[in-house]
Amino acid sequence: MKIISLVGARPQFIKAAMVSRALRPHCQEILVHTGQHYDGNMSQVFFDELELPEPDLFLGVGSGSHAVQTGRMMTGVEEILLKEKPDWLVVYGDTNTTLAGALAAAKLQTPIAHVEAGLRSFQRAMPEEINRVLVDHISTALFCPTQPAVDNLAREGISQGVHIVGDVMADALLHFIQLAPHKTTILADLKLEPGKYALATIHRAANTDDPLRLKAILRAFEEADLPVIFPVHPRTRKVIRDLGIFTNNNVHMIDPVGYLAMLQLEANADCILTDSGGVQKEAYWVGVRCITLRDETEWVETVELGWNKLTGADTASIVAAVRYWRPTTNRTPVYGNGHSAEKISAILLAQS
Ligand code: UD1
Ligand code: UDP
Repeated sequence: MKIISLVGARPQFIKAAMVSRALRPHCQEILVHTGQHYDGNMSQVFFDELELPEPDLFLGVGSGSHAVQTGRMMTGVEEILLKEKPDWLVVYGDTNTTLAGALAAAKLQTPIAHVEAGLRSFQRAMPEEINRVLVDHISTALFCPTQPAVDNLAREGISQGVHIVGDVMADALLHFIQLAPHKTTILADLKLEPGKYALATIHRAANTDDPLRLKAILRAFEEADLPVIFPVHPRTRKVIRDLGIFTNNNVHMIDPVGYLAMLQLEANADCILTDSGGVQKEAYWVGVRCITLRDETEWVETVELGWNKLTGADTASIVAAVRYWRPTTNRTPVYGNGHSAEKISAILLAQS
């Protein structure tokens, strides 16, 4: 069996690392990197740290408007599919890489496997929501992390090929969290004491493309009672620079960090402030309270279980959450038990 796995953006390297590890002993996997993310600390660091094989093919698409970026990726993926004629194209999550790969494959009738299917924010203004809805509707195998994701698909009339497998990001975390303390010196490098800092990430279009929201969030970081360690996504760095925003010395802007350093920073934080999908779940898994800088989330279980609080971009709500809000419930396992990648691999391989 021949499988093409398509990656391009930071969280996809982490997800694909686990699935690739499960697939490679049993089939020919061709790993294709679109080049959506290309800075060393947004791409190569993950190949170095996660034992992910170097990409077999690299499209080098880079940044651009949605249409330019998606179009270039589609052209590149189509060429590869025509040449390689794989049994499956595996796509991950909800980025433009995911959409481009799926659209190219659907037109060539290459079966698509969508890892992280069925997630919904019910906000069509969000580029990722458009990507996920479209990809789910043209996929043959839909790998959902949870029952609510399956229910979302059912409401849209999708029930064929749907599997609950848990979350491959849980697989990654459970595996790499053991290594993180031995392989990174990030806490010492940044002179951080466990439990004495907040960790923050921001990159969503809704927060970065709206100066009022971005400024309100950064003001909250300035007013937080704890120093805020803020690995800045290049998109956010560019906006902060273009708007000429300066923050006070409570906000420690650093470059994006590798996955192991990120896990170490997450696990030792007092709280996490984020608009990332992956980081919300990781906060839950490491048992650190998460304040989500969005008005809704796809990962509703983390909120329902009392470990994630949605504050939007409201300065006062964020500061109050950092100061006063604490989870009061025990965590129960959600998103699988760390064997999602094996389940995905077994299902794909069984369909030969
Ligand atoms: C993308 C995904 C988002 C995902 C995120 C993970 C889409 C529509 N969005 O958002 O769902 O959560 O990746 O991080 O696919 N840039 C660099 N260097 C890089 C990469 C990006 O400088 O290596 C800058 C460029 O200015 C670029 C901007 O970041 O225009 C945005 O990058 P892009 O890949 O379009 O979207 P993300 O915001 O990263
Ligand atoms: N991450 C990382 N370094 C960073 C910020 C995030 O390794 O500086 C990891 C994080 O631990 C998680 C993933 O990147 O595993 C999340 O990616 P991102 O927030 O870019 O995208 P999203 O999950 O929102 O799509």
